[in-house]
Amino acid sequence: MRTYYCGELRKEQIGETVTLYGWVDRRRDHGGVIFIDLRDRTGIVQIVSDPQRTPDSYELANTLRNEYVVEITGRVTQRPEESLNPRIPTGEVEIYADKIKLLNSVRKQLPFQVSTADGDQVREDLRLKYRYLDLRRDRMAHNLQLRHQVVKAMRRYLEDVEGFMEIETPVLTRSTPEGARDYILPSRVNLGEWFALPQSPQLFKQLLMVSGFDRYYQIAHCFRDEDLRADRQPEFTQLDMEMSFMSQEEIIELNEKLVGYIFKTVKGIEIQLPFPRLTYAEAMERYGSDKPDTRYGLELVNVSDVLKDSGFKVFREAVANGGIVKILPIPNGNDLISNVRIKPGGDLFKEASEAGAKGLAYIRVRDDGEIDTIGAIKDNLTAEQKQEILRRTDAKPGHLLLFGAGDAATVNKTLDRLRQVTAREFGLIDPEKINLLWVTDFPMFEWNAQEKRLEALHHPFTAPNPDDLSDLKTARAQAYDLVFNGFEVGGGSLRIYQPELQQQVFETIGFSPEEAHNKFGFLLEAFEYGTPPHGGIAYGLDRLVMLLAGEESIRDVIAFPKTQQARCLLTDAPSQVDAKQLKELHVASTYKPKS
Ligand code: AMO
Repeated sequence: MRTYYCGELRKEQIGETVTLYGWVDRRRDHGGVIFIDLRDRTGIVQIVSDPQRTPDSYELANTLRNEYVVEITGRVTQRPEESLNPRIPTGEVEIYADKIKLLNSVRKQLPFQVSTADGDQVREDLRLKYRYLDLRRDRMAHNLQLRHQVVKAMRRYLEDVEGFMEIETPVLTRSTPEGARDYILPSRVNLGEWFALPQSPQLFKQLLMVSGFDRYYQIAHCFRDEDLRADRQPEFTQLDMEMSFMSQEEIIELNEKLVGYIFKTVKGIEIQLPFPRLTYAEAMERYGSDKPDTRYGLELVNVSDVLKDSGFKVFREAVANGGIVKILPIPNGNDLISNVRIKPGGDLFKEASEAGAKGLAYIRVRDDGEIDTIGAIKDNLTAEQKQEILRRTDAKPGHLLLFGAGDAATVNKTLDRLRQVTAREFGLIDPEKINLLWVTDFPMFEWNAQEKRLEALHHPFTAPNPDDLSDLKTARAQAYDLVFNGFEVGGGSLRIYQPELQQQVFETIGFSPEEAHNKFGFLLEAFEYGTPPHGGIAYGLDRLVMLLAGEESIRDVIAFPKTQQARCLLTDAPSQVDAKQLKELHVASTYKPKS
């Protein structure tokens, strides 16, 4: 029987005889004495086998190779002074192996060195193909452990402190309106019909409120067929919650306590409550983003009113066409950002144009307080305009002012991107800082230029602000996102629970009553039978754990993730299926591979 995990052994166990199970991380032969680093999911401990002191284990110890699986029994001993290893928690002890039992060997050449003793440079595609080996390694073992701790804390707090109940909702279901593409599955029993995998449990959790389970949560799998990024997976996990009879303030307060509890139990960090808040409008104005990273300044400055009559056509026309002119002021920007970088072909120009900007105007403040810029701007700037721009941006000698001019969405997207790139390059981000903030008062709708219609920004069940009911199109929603160091880690809203208002929202996004009925008739009907006021939120568990683990990709906190091409390299999914299976389903592929 195992008496300890490898990573648990400390000075306190010296003198005890212990039995350990694990993998050989590596084996070294020091002039006839064999040292084995034995590893399990908790860490590594040093095993010693010596022909004099432990003759019974020596012969086998000599034959062990990396990643063999062994059982070891021996005495915990103080390491001699010269071989103490402060880099690992078990570094003060070693175990003299009285007995070693080989449980299994390795039969094939390992695709990569599992031990990270000599570094951790393995290509991600190899790591993903042999994920079971990658998960043996310290970093991934630690990340999955952390993920488990986070989920455990969520459950403890919600169940034990707040009386929430976990209820599972179906995975074979109808399309849910979270705005991404659905994954769909053909039904064999109901030919010609399709299930959709849930983009979230949104509709079911609202129905559970109608049923009276007034505090629901679920660790829920969600599926969205969208373009992937470092913080997005096609299959991801939410902590999903819904509550009845609570105001937005009460929901936010409960959630702050939940997040505080997670930080305290998992990281030992006391975070300050309540979290700061920004309205959507403020966040867009000051940061150009609805998920601003507020660990650093670099706030944007709106100068539309100053430059609306400017002789410089780009500025004047931007405002005349209903757009804006904003500035990203960069203190000491002149030192690090040359003209080459902000002109066509330069890296910052490229960032801007990828965000949709057509150009990147600038002003540099010289040591004497005068400005440098292109002639077309300088010649068209009045002394008052110049003074006002320098005053509003608090520009000092050395400042670089980068301009965005055009429609608000493009200007904000451009300057948000440049703000983030600059902060990283200038080392303005303190990695120790934890900035949590709520963004509130999102608009109900945004314009979908392609489909030429309004669409729900959050989802069509989000309740409008009661003060804005006179014009639903421009109404603010009772919706809130939780932003953690510039990432949206959660989002939720109060819901509409009156069928008439729900109908109006559907109309606003161009759903005819028939369409609404076809898609969500069951929900609308449920709302006729006594629906409590309710609201909720969902957290992206993977994103939250990624940030807590200090990782840059959510793939590094998911046991078996998909690649950016939405493939599983381990099982090689997705894959073709038998013609027979397709026939049974009456499904045929129209895809023609390029020859
Ligand atoms: P929303 O769509 O904002 O809200 O999703 C909630 C949170 O889930 C995370 N998330 C993702 N994480 C990884 N990969 C993805 N593809 C992905 N998409 C979203 C984000 C996000 O904040 N039903 C509503 C919640 C509600 O209103 O209660 C919903 O799903 O961290």
